[in-house]
Amino acid sequence: MSDLHVELTRGWELPSGDARPEFDVMIVAGDLTPRMERGVKWLLDRVPDRPVVYCMGNHEAYGEDIDRTLAKARAAAAGTHVHALENETVRIGNVTFVVCALWTDFALFGDQRREMAVAADRLNDFKKIRTGRYVERFRPAHALARHRASRAFLEAELRKDRPGPLVIVTHHACRRPELRLSDPPKPDELLSAAYYSDLSALMTPAPDDGRGALRPADLWIHGHTHSSFDAVIGGATDATIGGARTRVLCNPKGYGPWPPRERSWENPIFNEKLIIEI
Ligand SMILES: [Fe+2]
Ligand SMILES: [Fe+2]
Repeated sequence: MSDLHVELTRGWELPSGDARPEFDVMIVAGDLTPRMERGVKWLLDRVPDRPVVYCMGNHEAYGEDIDRTLAKARAAAAGTHVHALENETVRIGNVTFVVCALWTDFALFGDQRREMAVAADRLNDFKKIRTGRYVERFRPAHALARHRASRAFLEAELRKDRPGPLVIVTHHACRRPELRLSDPPKPDELLSAAYYSDLSALMTPAPDDGRGALRPADLWIHGHTHSSFDAVIGGATDATIGGARTRVLCNPKGYGPWPPRERSWENPIFNEKLIIEI
């Protein structure tokens, strides 16, 4: 699940006791709460007995320095079963989890400067997050640099030998949005470049270029969009490479609910008991 946004949630709790389904690993793909260290505590309070993979979202850094809140989260999670990760992997059983916030490449429409300018103008990300030890405001150029580092990290992991399935967890989306665009695109539409990047190249097998053959992930879980998605992307052009297609999945709650309306959260098909078998 993702985008629980507990800071904007009244009257919803994580299923507990008999209402909680059996699972081996819980995945939280970002936007649990501002200040990632608080997210770690929230998870430790509620999930005492199973590993949790916790990826930071943009909201985790609101009101904070992005690297500082990550460092605090890592300290809070150290030695526990909650894995607060950024550009890091963790192996649980024979499954490798590859985790990064991802950010975006502002490259959906072929006008990167304008896509970055619209995002800078309209998004709270570029007003409420600090960087450089609180000195600077976080800007689209910082997001782009982080995206490039995360993309290189993902590709390197996909080119490594691995003993079993590989699951990528990112906050930002790894695919093109499902929307029909105006020509020329309107600013609202350009804003989707701060939500989505087309990473289908990482979902297509590629031969060994000296760094090992690229084998796509079995499953890629993302958040950030506040609407559900579940489809298979990519495909093998060379069946001998194997690991051909990636299931891409997003299961966000979004903001809310807003009492007295029960179960009135933003994404009406959010499934708080979703189980994926790998
Ligand atoms: Fe969100
Ligand atoms: Fe987000």
